[in-house]
Amino acid sequence: MFRENTCGELRASHVNLNTTLSGWVHKVRDKGFVVWVDLRDRYGITQLVFDEDRSPKSLLEKARELGRETVIMVNGGVIERASKNPNIPTGDIEVLVQKLEVLNPSQLPPFTIEDDTDGGEDIRMKYRYLDIRRNPVKNNLIFRHKVTMEVRKYLSEYGFIEVETPYLIKSTPEGARDFLVPSRMNAGQFYALPQSPQTFKQLLMVGGMDKYFQIVKCFRDEDLRADRQPEFTQIDCEMAFVEQDDVLYTFEGLTKHLLKEIHGLETGDFPKITYDEAMRKYGNDKPDIRFGMEFGELNSVAQHRAFNVFNSAELVVGIAVPGGASYTRKEIDKLIDWVKRPQVGAMGMVYVKCNEDGTFKSSVDKFYDQNDLQKWAENTGAQSGDLICVLSGKIKETRSQLSALRMEMAERLGLRKPDEFAPLWVVDFPLLELDEETGNYHAMHHPFTSPKPGQIEVLDTDPGAVRANAYDLVLNGNEIGGGSIRIHDKEIQATMFKHLGFTPEQAKAQFGFLMDAFQYGAPPHGGIAFGLDRLVAILGGQETIRDFIAFPKNNSGRDVMIDAPSPIDEEQLKELSLKLDT
Ligand code: AMO
Repeated sequence: MFRENTCGELRASHVNLNTTLSGWVHKVRDKGFVVWVDLRDRYGITQLVFDEDRSPKSLLEKARELGRETVIMVNGGVIERASKNPNIPTGDIEVLVQKLEVLNPSQLPPFTIEDDTDGGEDIRMKYRYLDIRRNPVKNNLIFRHKVTMEVRKYLSEYGFIEVETPYLIKSTPEGARDFLVPSRMNAGQFYALPQSPQTFKQLLMVGGMDKYFQIVKCFRDEDLRADRQPEFTQIDCEMAFVEQDDVLYTFEGLTKHLLKEIHGLETGDFPKITYDEAMRKYGNDKPDIRFGMEFGELNSVAQHRAFNVFNSAELVVGIAVPGGASYTRKEIDKLIDWVKRPQVGAMGMVYVKCNEDGTFKSSVDKFYDQNDLQKWAENTGAQSGDLICVLSGKIKETRSQLSALRMEMAERLGLRKPDEFAPLWVVDFPLLELDEETGNYHAMHHPFTSPKPGQIEVLDTDPGAVRANAYDLVLNGNEIGGGSIRIHDKEIQATMFKHLGFTPEQAKAQFGFLMDAFQYGAPPHGGIAFGLDRLVAILGGQETIRDFIAFPKNNSGRDVMIDAPSPIDEEQLKELSLKLDT
């Protein structure tokens, strides 16, 4: 038997128990007449003691030589510690070792297995199995398991059935590029890995499954960011005979359940705002509403003077930064430099200090009087002591720039509190988005999303104005889920494909299976998919999903541990009927 207890289990109540433990040598402290070894496993750390008087002599020597990360098995009695360690749960006891067996030695690890390690990101990725031994990574994986179990529990209780759908499929357009898999048996032909199980879950509704879910890997060949991986996991769900409110109710319920079970939080009903309102108030369709700083539009109170920068702008818009009036000239100049960085892209920034005595001092005092600035303060909700930051230009760009500034200021002011959760629904997205380069429309969500009731006719006259029966769930400034009510009528689906620039032949070749299915009694249906990695990261108070994935890819989409992607040999290429042009 390797062990009778784990390294996280023993307490004062176990004193006098004889036990066997196995684990990794975390640390060795040699005081000559006594050697202490911290033994570690997934459950914690237990202090082992080898003592000149009370342990067999040869053991002391053996203990002294133990290298870090050696796997050992020990047997001994649990004793009370002379000096207790209140920082760890096993800190009241230690195990006085009588038997020690080395199960497997270890090379010196390339970084220390400590909460605060000396290992950089690259080396930790290369030796991810060692990184997983560290508490921060290990705890994130355990946390992910807990969230996943709660999701399964909740959905199963509500009658959802988990069904697996295939990974080797035909391309499903979700806006990113596909990863392709060549078929050996069908020379020159390719499977695509699913960007999501979208069409399959719709077919399951046609198949009468009624309520489906799946915790499922999705694959998207797109540029990586902190919240994006080329393979990631969705909690993918679909329901038949539902309208938008039914879906929102069900998945608001799931989110509330998670906040309750994971953090003990009771959450009220989630606010619901339209896409247009989100863009107007926050310049962003995934607003962080843990803090205010809502946008105040200033066109009506800033375009009546001789300040041409504003007069020629489509939008003049500002935010009130709490307490910002105390910023020095230098600090403000730095902020202006920040908004002018290429990543943000503003041309400049106008500011107004709202002094404590009720007066204003602005960078455009030459053009605007105190009455004008008072109005700006009203529109942005600025209080005395605040700094109003104003940007101007084209609507879309200016909103996006001010949104970046809003998030940055919130971050700097500590307003993005990781233990506070502010969910909201964003609804009524545009159905189609104009690709300015090609002049073509593409589906903002995906081509199976239904227009809002009564809007189908508008598709022919003003496609850009049609709103989708689609919704996103946003948590702390991150899109954690998105879904829609689907088209279930063959004709409407055909119209949709037409507007997306498919000829009837192309639509048939790519989606004939779905259109066919719609001829056999497709029920009205809709659903949603949560990004599990994002959900877990945010519930864990963080935003980098890599830290919650056991074996993630790096920023270039590489797995540096197994060295993938990698070239394949000639033979394999030939077998797959592939030729590389290099
Ligand atoms: P969507 O494309 O919005 O919808 O994806 C759903 C959710 O998946 C997460 N997500 C990602 N997470 C990590 N890395 C990525 N590269 C990545 N891409 C997306 C996001 C997102 O909200 N089939 C539809 C769902 C539906 O209509 O039911 C879909 O996939 O959190």
